[in-house]
Amino acid sequence: MMNFTFHNPTRIHFGEGQISKISQEIPETSRVLVIYGGGSIKTNGVYDQVKEALSNHSWFEFSGIEPNPKYDTTIKSLEIIKEQKIDYLLAVGGGSVIDATKFIAAAALYDGDDPWDILKKQEKISQAIPMGAILTLPATGSESNSGSVMTRDGNKLFFGSPLVYPLFAILDPATTLTLSDRQISNGVVDAFVHTVEQYLTYPVNAKVQDRFSEGILQTLIADGPLALEDNFKNNLEVRGNIMWSATLALNGLIGAGVPQDWTTHMIGHELTGLYNIDHARTLAIVYPAVLKVCRQAKHDKLIQYGKRVWNLTNPDEEQLIDEAIAKTAEFFQKMQVPTSLSEVNLGASDIDKILNKLEQHGMVALGENSDTTLEVSRQILEAAL
Ligand code: NZQ
Ligand code: ZN
Repeated sequence: MMNFTFHNPTRIHFGEGQISKISQEIPETSRVLVIYGGGSIKTNGVYDQVKEALSNHSWFEFSGIEPNPKYDTTIKSLEIIKEQKIDYLLAVGGGSVIDATKFIAAAALYDGDDPWDILKKQEKISQAIPMGAILTLPATGSESNSGSVMTRDGNKLFFGSPLVYPLFAILDPATTLTLSDRQISNGVVDAFVHTVEQYLTYPVNAKVQDRFSEGILQTLIADGPLALEDNFKNNLEVRGNIMWSATLALNGLIGAGVPQDWTTHMIGHELTGLYNIDHARTLAIVYPAVLKVCRQAKHDKLIQYGKRVWNLTNPDEEQLIDEAIAKTAEFFQKMQVPTSLSEVNLGASDIDKILNKLEQHGMVALGENSDTTLEVSRQILEAAL
């Protein structure tokens, strides 16, 4: 395997009733800003648990963060942060709320002219307000990683800094019981694609990372569809396994010391930026096409994936790869997400627009070998039609 440095500073509290731990995690002298989205936390009891746990703290709130968080909304929080001398942020919600909170943490203490430069120009930040997270939608891994994705005028941009790791994250599977089928599906598919984008590249004999990844994939394959079944709708073990899988899929562990792809995510971000398609749905559309177009470069790992994750036994390697790709798309279909551009009403005439955005954002050498040029991305989009 390749050299790596691994450090994940986020303390995880997993399980039912763990939201109360925030009272110990956040110093009582802190002035806390609780940040949330469109109000799901008000209807499922999470807000009340936060209120109860923070009864001895000085706290304020900022809400209205939308899915695929918008810069223009998020930046408004800086007023209350200044006014109330906020020195601790608590994100309560899904990836969008946590990502927005990371951006707020960085933007509030940014000493440059325009905080958008943190994303647009990838300006390094030198400080950030400390933050914690209460996760209500297992999907992105944002609760224990250092990345954030923000949107402005159809441009979906990423920034990362060790300074915005949440100091703690609460993972209570019970908070996920109010998720719609659509959001459960999205979460499982997002976590699945995070795993394969770090696993399905080329072999570097990273045995532990491979086995961890295969374990996460098999858990998502087994429990993802169960979470959509009526008989398992309220099953906390199923929810818990999905939740922990999603966190481990993108907290740095399985990506340490291995090549990484991320082609699907980068093309997917353009689809969300341009057409407002849910993040995970863009991934399910693009990923099977990436496997088809890049099957040569991914040959050895595709065979390992087919054999170990899907238990395929076909002695003909090319046929086994075909089956592995088909199984992947079938799994996404089982999770009720689209697997082609036509299913979201996009066609060949949209491809140039998507490629232009990729070019504009410098996404011209993607993939584990940096050889996914715009021409290869075109082939991928054509294969996704
Ligand atoms: O806003 P509220 O009312 O809370 O409703 C949300 C939102 O409408 C709802 N929801 C969340 N928890 C719920 C709930 N509804 C009922 N019960 C609950 N317990 O779900 C909707 C979607 O939420 P969102 O946070 O947008 O979903 P997700 O967690 O999938 O996050 C997606 C965002 O994360 C980014 C994506 O690009 C996208 O912007 N990503 C962040 C990454 C990272 N930081 O590492 C990596 C990912 O690849 C991804 O790019
Ligand atoms: Zn993702």
